[in-house]
Amino acid sequence: MWANKLKDIQPFHVMEVLKRAKELEAEGGDLIHLEVGEPDFPTPEPILKAAKDALNQDLTRYTPALGIPQLREAIAQWYKRRYNVTVNPAHVVVTPGTSGGFILALGSLLNPGDKVALADPGYPCYPNMIHFLGGDPLAINVGPESRYQLHPEVLKKPMTQGVRGVLITSPSNPTGTLIRPDDFAANIELVESHGGVVISDEIYHWITYEEPPRTALEWSNKAVVINGFSKYFAMTGWRLGWMIVPPDLLPKVEALAQNLFISATTISQYAALAAFDCEDFFQQRVQGFDQNRRFLMGALRDMGFSIPVDPSGAFYIYADASPVLRRLGLNDSATLCRTWLEEIHVAITPGLDFGHNRPGVHMRFSYAGSLDRIQEAVRRMTRDLKQRAT
Ligand SMILES: Cc1ncc(COP(=O)(O)O)c(C=O)c1O
Repeated sequence: MWANKLKDIQPFHVMEVLKRAKELEAEGGDLIHLEVGEPDFPTPEPILKAAKDALNQDLTRYTPALGIPQLREAIAQWYKRRYNVTVNPAHVVVTPGTSGGFILALGSLLNPGDKVALADPGYPCYPNMIHFLGGDPLAINVGPESRYQLHPEVLKKPMTQGVRGVLITSPSNPTGTLIRPDDFAANIELVESHGGVVISDEIYHWITYEEPPRTALEWSNKAVVINGFSKYFAMTGWRLGWMIVPPDLLPKVEALAQNLFISATTISQYAALAAFDCEDFFQQRVQGFDQNRRFLMGALRDMGFSIPVDPSGAFYIYADASPVLRRLGLNDSATLCRTWLEEIHVAITPGLDFGHNRPGVHMRFSYAGSLDRIQEAVRRMTRDLKQRAT
């Protein structure tokens, strides 16, 4: 019935957890959502106003495939202001979400069978998108010693075997960890010296708590950088992202964008122009996430979860549940996630969404929601663990 190329495409399990959580909610359950990676506050008023103004001015037609010039310019200025890196607005491509950016980047880079190296644990959509576009994902196990990030030691051998692209996600989903700047620079040098391309997913940039994020553009003018408005700017449903594309790839990315999407959503593009005026608001939200992070990290460790590296970005904690599972006599984290979802109405994503590197003992907790709900979740989980122990 369906195409052979879909045989390796896996479901995004977190969406299944979310579906079940919504069912329980519809039955009257008081669900706490620690599963979804989505800020829980509404889009700030100035962005809504810009969208309404765009509607009132009938700005509802297609835009150029690469995006409206004002937004491309504003994104280029953002790099100067936040990173002190000069970006030519002509190299900025506005996309339908970061996800759209990945389709364009991988679609324009990959020949059939080309390998793309990525960290395991990592974001589950990458291998599925690579498969779909005819490439071959090469998952590389990473652990606490490199902050769960790719580093030259693990990339050296694959790079001699003809890897076309290397995906770097810092801060990472699911681990919330940032790549060490030395590793970032060394990875880029290694990959490019072998004729490969670094694709840097910077979607969690500026949701950072201990050190500023570093863009691949600081070290490379050949890397493809992908970012968007979903996370720091909290505009998930507006479906808007961007890429910074090296000039030789640009004509093909533009042709693909024209054919696949025609353009990103027009109203969202005009709305996003106002996002850059709301930076104080977003910084405050990051302080709120940090409060959540400190609380949840401490609480999970008190419950017996192991978190070997403090997550210092995004809004995720990827906890090793082995000590807890042992105590409860359980074999895998998916069982505990299911039990907590059904019995105490706390939704958490099991590790099996994030690759093959010991997923059965890991759980990803998102702390993008409000502190009082996270505190309530901790009360429920702590009480449940105590009850099961007696
Ligand atoms: C690492 C990573 N990249 C990309 C995305 C997709 O984001 P967007 O909403 O911009 O498509 C997500 C969403 O959770 C993510 O975690």
